[in-house]
Amino acid sequence: MVGLDLGSTKMAVAVGEVNNDNSLTLLALSQIDSSGMRRGNVVDMESSARTIDELLDGVERIAGTHITTTRVGFNSTSVATTINRATIAVTHPNHEINSDDINRAIQAARMVPISPDRSVVHIIPRQFIVDGYEGVVDPLGMMGSRLEVEVIIVTALTSALQNMVKTVGRTGTKVKEIVLSSILSAEAVLQPAEKEMGVVLVDIGGGTSDIAVFEQGSLVYASVLPVGGDYITRDLAVGLRTTIDEARRIKENYGYAHVDLVPEGEMVDISSIYGKDSRQVSERAIASIIQPRVEELLEILNAELRRTGFDGVLPAGIVLTGGCSLLKGIIPFGEEYLNMPMRIGYPENGGLGINQQYGPEYAAVLGNLLYGARVLSNLQGEKQDKLISGFISRIGYWFKELFS
Ligand SMILES: Nc1ncnc2c1ncn2[C@@H]1O[C@H](COP(=O)(O)OP(=O)(O)OP(=O)(O)O)[C@@H](O)[C@H]1O
Ligand SMILES: [Mg+2]
Repeated sequence: MVGLDLGSTKMAVAVGEVNNDNSLTLLALSQIDSSGMRRGNVVDMESSARTIDELLDGVERIAGTHITTTRVGFNSTSVATTINRATIAVTHPNHEINSDDINRAIQAARMVPISPDRSVVHIIPRQFIVDGYEGVVDPLGMMGSRLEVEVIIVTALTSALQNMVKTVGRTGTKVKEIVLSSILSAEAVLQPAEKEMGVVLVDIGGGTSDIAVFEQGSLVYASVLPVGGDYITRDLAVGLRTTIDEARRIKENYGYAHVDLVPEGEMVDISSIYGKDSRQVSERAIASIIQPRVEELLEILNAELRRTGFDGVLPAGIVLTGGCSLLKGIIPFGEEYLNMPMRIGYPENGGLGINQQYGPEYAAVLGNLLYGARVLSNLQGEKQDKLISGFISRIGYWFKELFS
């Protein structure tokens, strides 16, 4: 099983093996500096395809396999979600709800007006309502005469999706599924109890911040904001009069989210733009450049939560993942700024059959495999998780539509 993450900072691929008991073993994880991607969208197909090709070649050698298909996460800023409901009548004489009824209900709920340049990527049933009884997780086999379903519909610009599939396709690898990146990251870092209580996953990468809100165990909202760590790096390069690469190194090694969190008196050597001489700058001065950018990022997140009505209603708070969650002090600063509990989301390694702990920047790519393994075991009926299997059959539907 292969999972691909086309980030704006790095592209990563994970190869896993599904064992006989449906457990997963991670065989290889590789990454390469990204190219041709901007804010989750392919902007230079040729350059992206070349880099993906190099990435896949490398991982094939490590894993000792030939890769023919992959599941790709996407975090295009064009992502949008809407909630919809639909009701159907259960007309068979015995009123026992079958899978046909469930499919009919979901298809009916799919009928929301979306602009012609967008495609439906996911339709995820949130709950079923049988004869007025809310909160039914799986209505299959239940008795009832009215079946209502509430779904969340994830859409994105068709061209953004097609360009991604086409770019990967150029390497000779077929995209067998596209999944919203934040769903994949959530798979790797969120606890079921958090999703049940109400939580927002925020994956802050280089170019985007991917938001996914979960309530009562399922996704209720997702968006992709066009801000990320590169924004801090660029400001630091200007402020310190150095190169982007050096600014990034400084940020990752000596950067703090807030000046008050910096230890007194620490100095850092910085090479100038011309690369010859180096200067000393205090960590405090570095933090004074970073802090306003972090504040802006948190304010954008705050505004998004307010606008969507999720501020103050998510008891499990924020789980921050992606490379930017490693910025020193971002958790205490974020907690105070947003007045919500916050933790770093490290990918869960148990499900990957490994002891090694990978960093949060690998949440999306490792979540990709975990997601794939879960789907597989659901399809094989290991676990009766109809929400997910229903969801997968809908992905199949969309896929045919987009590429036929
Ligand atoms: N230790 C660290 N401290 C601060 N920032 C870090 C650290 N490690 C990585 N970053 C930053 O995280 C960002 C990259 O994160 P990530 O690898 O999750 O992005 P990506 O998935 O390639 O991009 P995107 O998801 O936005 O398309 C960069 O801005 C990088 O500088
Ligand atoms: Mg990312």
